[in-house]
Amino acid sequence: MIGSATGVAIGITGLGSNVPETVMTNDDLARLIDTSDEWIRERTGIRERRIATRDEALSDIALPAARQALAEAGAQPSEIDLVICATVTPDMLFPTAAALMADTLELRNAAAYDLAAGCTGFMYAITQAYGMLASGLSKKTLVIGADVLSKTLDWEDRSTVVLFGDGAGAVVMEPVSTGGFLGFELGADGGGGVHLSYPGSGSRYFDGSKPSLEMNGREVFKFATRVMVSSATAVLEQCGKTIADVDCYVPHQANKRIIDYAVEKLGISPERTVVNVDRFGNTSSGSIPLALVDARAEGRLTEGALVLMTGMGAGLTWGSALLQWGGKAQLGNAIGLPAAVVA
Ligand code: UT7
Repeated sequence: MIGSATGVAIGITGLGSNVPETVMTNDDLARLIDTSDEWIRERTGIRERRIATRDEALSDIALPAARQALAEAGAQPSEIDLVICATVTPDMLFPTAAALMADTLELRNAAAYDLAAGCTGFMYAITQAYGMLASGLSKKTLVIGADVLSKTLDWEDRSTVVLFGDGAGAVVMEPVSTGGFLGFELGADGGGGVHLSYPGSGSRYFDGSKPSLEMNGREVFKFATRVMVSSATAVLEQCGKTIADVDCYVPHQANKRIIDYAVEKLGISPERTVVNVDRFGNTSSGSIPLALVDARAEGRLTEGALVLMTGMGAGLTWGSALLQWGGKAQLGNAIGLPAAVVA
């Protein structure tokens, strides 16, 4: 699926993130399994990741991120009419994490549902939110991207435990006066799905025989390097832009080697690329919003900056979006003014 934005401009007016407090370093992992800090750094670029405690579920980690995004957007609870939570690790399949969080946040006028698209979940969710907002069905949407993949892992499988971490990000999306999303590209290849799966998570293996995430790292790596480039290129072309126009590249944070490959093939400078996989590992649906928060903290999301986001993951799925950062509401909210003041 590919398309450019038309009609009313839709942008991000609030942004938030949260990660669990517990830090797990590579040396901590090396005490649990046969691995080393050196191997993990060399093959993945990861130094440490955050891991949820036994009692922490997805909504516990995602709620603080959602609260930050809502506060920054100056959004009243009654104004949010849609909550989409991108995740493959909800508290439970139902009630959905989105419905539980909408209740806690007292978003009484909101439709709420979870959306599963693996690590591409956040890209799918913002695309869907865009469609809802551009059509006028929603006036103000809360999009959460969050995962606690640590709960799905076989902690004796060194090829997966070193990669993943837990984390959450959230954005408020609404019409903006300037800037906003320019276009989207999404795709899926279920035929490749077998390379990254969590078989016991649904109705196929209710007998408990497949309790953990399973991954063919080499195949996912090949897929990732291909789509990180093809998807980004497609959305740029669709929007009449080139990579030279991009001020800030926000790739899915899966593996530094995948990011380096995409940076080289796309021809964008590392200085314009956001990297935080070293601190958080792969947080799945939380990855891109967490990286957006870091990008802003580093001063990269300036008024008018062209932001390219690309994700990929289980499904197999991929997705890109092009966003012009800014607009009166975005600028006002970034410095903490209520939306009403800057509208
Ligand atoms: O959102 C998408 C999520 N998934 C991904 O992004 C995963 C993409 N794939 C990858 O990032 C890489 O394939 C990995 C990091 C998972 C693995 O890196 P690799 O360079 O493809 O390593 P490999 O699987 O080819 O394994 C090389 C060696 C093997 O040993 P032998 O057979 O050469 O003796 C593995 O057994 O490294 C060994 N190995 C490890 N050694 C130490 C695999 N995992 C580890 C480990 N520590 N954690």
